[in-house]
Amino acid sequence: MDFELKTLTPARICAEKCDALIVLVADDAASGTDAVSKMATLAIKAGDFESKAGKLLSSYRPQGVSATRLLLAGAGDGSAKSIRTAVTTAMAALKTTNVRRVLLSLVALPQAGHVTVRAAVLACADASYVYSTTKSKPAEQKLHRVVVCVPTLAASGAGFDKGVGLSKGLALTREWANRPANHATPTLLANAARELGKLPGLRVEVLGPKEVAKLGMGSFMAVAQGSEEPLRFIVLRYDGGAKAEPPVVLIGKGITFDTGGISIKPAAEMDEMKYDMGGAASVLGTFRALAELQPALNVVGLIPACENMPDGRAIKPGDVVTSMSGQTIEILNTDAEGRLVLCDALTYAERFKPRAVVDIATLTGACVIALGGVRSGMFSSDDALAESLAEAGESSMDLCWRMPLDEEYADGLKTHFADVANVAGRAGGAITAAKFLQRFAGKFPWAHLDIAGTAWKSGAAKGSTGRPVPLLVDFLLSQVQTSKVAKSAKPSTKKRSVSRA
Ligand code: BES
Ligand code: MN
Ligand code: ZN
Repeated sequence: MDFELKTLTPARICAEKCDALIVLVADDAASGTDAVSKMATLAIKAGDFESKAGKLLSSYRPQGVSATRLLLAGAGDGSAKSIRTAVTTAMAALKTTNVRRVLLSLVALPQAGHVTVRAAVLACADASYVYSTTKSKPAEQKLHRVVVCVPTLAASGAGFDKGVGLSKGLALTREWANRPANHATPTLLANAARELGKLPGLRVEVLGPKEVAKLGMGSFMAVAQGSEEPLRFIVLRYDGGAKAEPPVVLIGKGITFDTGGISIKPAAEMDEMKYDMGGAASVLGTFRALAELQPALNVVGLIPACENMPDGRAIKPGDVVTSMSGQTIEILNTDAEGRLVLCDALTYAERFKPRAVVDIATLTGACVIALGGVRSGMFSSDDALAESLAEAGESSMDLCWRMPLDEEYADGLKTHFADVANVAGRAGGAITAAKFLQRFAGKFPWAHLDIAGTAWKSGAAKGSTGRPVPLLVDFLLSQVQTSKVAKSAKPSTKKRSVSRA
């Protein structure tokens, strides 16, 4: 999809030829003299339209408007959230049409600043994503151009660029998370990462079973040993900051399918465990966005990728393995595999002397019970880091909620047979999982995002959400501002107004 940013007056917008013109109408919009504004005023007076976010009035070849279709979309208070609702509603109404070129007018909004423009671009991109990789006759993607109209470029250009860059990352994340496990093996995931390595500022290295054995990642290897698919340990690097500047490390859980192993899961909805690499997909998507946005900071991405399968060689409950950190782990439940691959990645992260490490994982069903699909669970041993992540969640509308890490929660992980067990009781399952990870994260400020409830949707709208890529990108961008080391921002290599997704 191509996006373009334009400044147009309301009168010019009415005269602009396109397949569909979407005009956002906020609560306190001044009533203009152009055809669309007049129509909006009239419709509101007649009670046929409201400016409430989510309300819609469509017309076909209306008088005084050059667009084939006109959609008035209520944008309520004009906040980013209302704009997201408005654009999502309008785009949904266009889904079954032949519309190829859309004009999206934000000119009547009280403030078309960078936050609102970004929200509009993201909602457009999100609504037009269609999964087609494993369909024999892929649905034709008709909509291919959206022109966003704003009163001034100065106020919205940066938000537009952010939105377009972020949308590319989100699309990549959704795509890889949606792919079935036989089309997204650890090897294929590593190949996708290698492709990313061709983008400006990015480097990618992939380790296989031999290298991982040499590193002593006994915990990660233990999970992988039940599968015919060889494990991959993916290392991504984005170097936008000064050489000496310590990086932020992102670690994504890359279980390409989680059967539960010998502690096998029930059959119902087990297909959804193809999404158990949602953390990994969000790291890939974040790097895709970094390549677009080129911020002045250094970022490392680590993805331990493997399948969790039952097999003659699979780990058994009670097995004790030695992690890369040297700590021994009693695997009481082979379905608590995420923490077993993450702990070795956390130890590996030490070599980068990171300023912060954030792991992202579809880690526990307990987190789904605790927070549902609205907020990701956030755990951190560092208040400043926790605050930055919470703020990034708010600013990107990709919310998270800080959870506790009291020492008492670790009591259940005690065992007679190893340094630590991989599970405690059922109570507080999301927290005990985080306590397990914390044991391997003592050498740097650390945070853990449990995205089990937010990374995908079940039911009719089944599919990946792309979360928490918006949160991660906003968090990383905030780290540029707080970075103490002087940096030289690389100018974007692409044109401002037109980009291809
Ligand atoms: N991948 C699952 C977590 C999960 C469950 C994500 C449901 C999304 C929806 C994870 O590997 C797992 O199986 N966790 C277990 C841990 C338990 C054995 C302590 C769980 O949550 O049941
Ligand atoms: Mn599991
Ligand atoms: Zn899992």
